Amino acid sequence: MAAVDNSIEAQALVREFKKGPRAVDGIDLRVEGGEIYGFLGPNGAGKSTTVLMLTTLLPPTSGTARVGGFDVVKQGPQVRKAIGAALQEAALDPLLTGREHLRLQTAMHGIRGEERKRRSDQLLERVGLSEAADRKVKGYSGGMKRRLDLALALVHGPRILFLDEPTTGLDVQSRTALWREVGRLAREDGVTVFLTTQYLEEADVLADRVGIIDRGHIVAEGTPERLKAQIARSTVEALPANAEEKGAVAAVLERFGKQTPGFSPGTVAVQLASSDGHLTEIVRALDQEGLRIAHLQIHEPTLDDVFLAKTGRHLEGAGEAAGNLEPEPAPA
Ligand SMILES: Nc1ncnc2c1ncn2[C@@H]1O[C@H](COP(=O)(O)OP(=O)(O)O)[C@@H](O)[C@H]1O
Ligand SMILES: [Mg+2]
Repeated sequence: MAAVDNSIEAQALVREFKKGPRAVDGIDLRVEGGEIYGFLGPNGAGKSTTVLMLTTLLPPTSGTARVGGFDVVKQGPQVRKAIGAALQEAALDPLLTGREHLRLQTAMHGIRGEERKRRSDQLLERVGLSEAADRKVKGYSGGMKRRLDLALALVHGPRILFLDEPTTGLDVQSRTALWREVGRLAREDGVTVFLTTQYLEEADVLADRVGIIDRGHIVAEGTPERLKAQIARSTVEALPANAEEKGAVAAVLERFGKQTPGFSPGTVAVQLASSDGHLTEIVRALDQEGLRIAHLQIHEPTLDDVFLAKTGRHLEGAGEAAGNLEPEPAPA
């Protein structure tokens, strides 16, 4: 018997929408079995469209893709059997409980009797929903819903898992809990994970390899370490105390490196010409010109710098702290 193939592969994959853009414009990628692949890109980049094609839910306009060794167009049923997917517009029924959702999903996969109960309990436990299992989903927080999505995607023990923005809008704690579970699936169970995200940190922390997608193109790919190492230099960002002095501040900063778009409005940023810290010299130079600074910050290279280097733009929300989003509601 041939070895089990848990890889994902796309070649020159294209999806064009009739009245829309070329949402996915010829992408090539390969994800090895057991790997966590982070597909990072801003809103509208083409992440979901790619996932829909790889999960056989949307036919490609051209190009090919194989998932688990099966062609997504010609061998749809085999692909669907091998994969689990938690997609963005997941339809949870607010009036059903978590356990009832699992009951339906197991039935759909033909899992019955004792095995059904065993599997449901085990998955609820695994995603930390044992206690909330008999509450209706309408009382769940965003994080709990995403964890239920994950449990549902795992019902049939898939070898390959697709997660479309599993943590968008979640607070740090829920996000970290989900990362832990996804990490465990890959490390302990050898599941291949294809995960889309808008969050730098998520790709950086969780993914073995990252593909950065923008406007339907993969603009960079590699391990987070390698991608950041290509950038190598830090960025210094200054917020002038007087907005009128922005030009003068920029002139001083440009002695130390090349101007680059700032992370926040009103700031001036330069990518330092060398990797040595210049902060004291910069402060001294600004002081000598009589320029006052409200805020001065040094940024180590991030995946956003990689995105910026390739596209000339920041990833949306890249500068935002990944913490002050939707708070968890109190349990109902
Ligand atoms: N069904 C559709 N019809 C027309 N355009 C679409 C459709 N789905 C997505 N698009 C467009 O394709 C592009 C990529 O969308 P999507 O794959 O959803 O991006 P992402 O998931 O990265 O936010 C966007 O410009 C979006 O508006
Ligand atoms: Mg999307």
